[in-house]
Amino acid sequence: MKNLFKLGWVISGMLVAVMAVAAEKAAVKPEAKAEAVPVAVEKKTADQIVQNVCAACHAPDGNSVITLNPKLAGQHPEYLFKQLNNFKEGSRANAVMSGMVANLSPEDMQSLAQYFSQQTITLAKAKSNGKGSLGEKIYRGGIAKTNVPACAACHGANGAGLPKQFPRLASQHADYTYQQLKTFRTGERANAPMMMVIAAKMTDAEMQAVADYIQGLR
Ligand code: HEC
Ligand code: HEC
Repeated sequence: MKNLFKLGWVISGMLVAVMAVAAEKAAVKPEAKAEAVPVAVEKKTADQIVQNVCAACHAPDGNSVITLNPKLAGQHPEYLFKQLNNFKEGSRANAVMSGMVANLSPEDMQSLAQYFSQQTITLAKAKSNGKGSLGEKIYRGGIAKTNVPACAACHGANGAGLPKQFPRLASQHADYTYQQLKTFRTGERANAPMMMVIAAKMTDAEMQAVADYIQGLR
């Protein structure tokens, strides 16, 4: 009788333990499903595309070495996402990049934009357009005689831009920035009416000067 009583306790103790485990599983499972899985998958995809494709030209951390390939590190994600879409639909014409985006889904483009925006940009220096130069004058004050507005008005005094509206320019390669100003002027890059109007009024020398100044901005 004593033994039977003991056995009863043991069995009910085991039951409680089993029920506790079941309850814990029920509580943990849906949460784990909702959080961990999609984040892990998304991250891996962006990393893989960067390693396999983008890194060759933009470097794994988005600080490209070749100066006609833009640095992507630290750029606003909304701006990067817009550019990838613009390459795809053709309003920004570029043979190299249109090939790169052809097979990317909107989700890929979102996660790539996030990836590069989270990298840290390496700072650079102006070659000849530092303080007191023509480049600085254009950036901060515009060009009065041809009605070119100050770049700082939209891109910010330190070139940080404004998320969702104006891209970051600070520390970008001067060769790339100069190239963009030229393609805004020719209309090859027709994805930004504001910039097309501005570039149409600038000479090559003015574009080069301001592009060099921007490279040294931080
Ligand atoms: C073969 C070299 C090459 C590869 C690979 C490449 N890019 Fe580019 N990328 C360029 C060049 C060159 C430009 C500048 C295009 C222009 O002049 O308009 C550019 C421009 C861009 C821009 C515009 C940046 C800005 O500031 O407006 C984004 C965004 C971009 N690339 C993302 C990517 C992503 C994401 C990948 C990988 C899927 C990738 N690129 C792969 C060469 C490359
Ligand atoms: C009225 C606002 C405004 C002013 C002023 C302005 N910009 Fe912009 N700029 C923009 C916008 C908006 C974009 C983004 C275009 C897009 O979404 O593709 C841009 C994009 C750019 C880009 C492309 C960046 C990249 O990574 O490819 C460059 C370069 C640039 N601007 C240079 C200048 C310079 C130089 C000046 C001064 C001479 C200037 N901007 C003045 C609004 C402005």
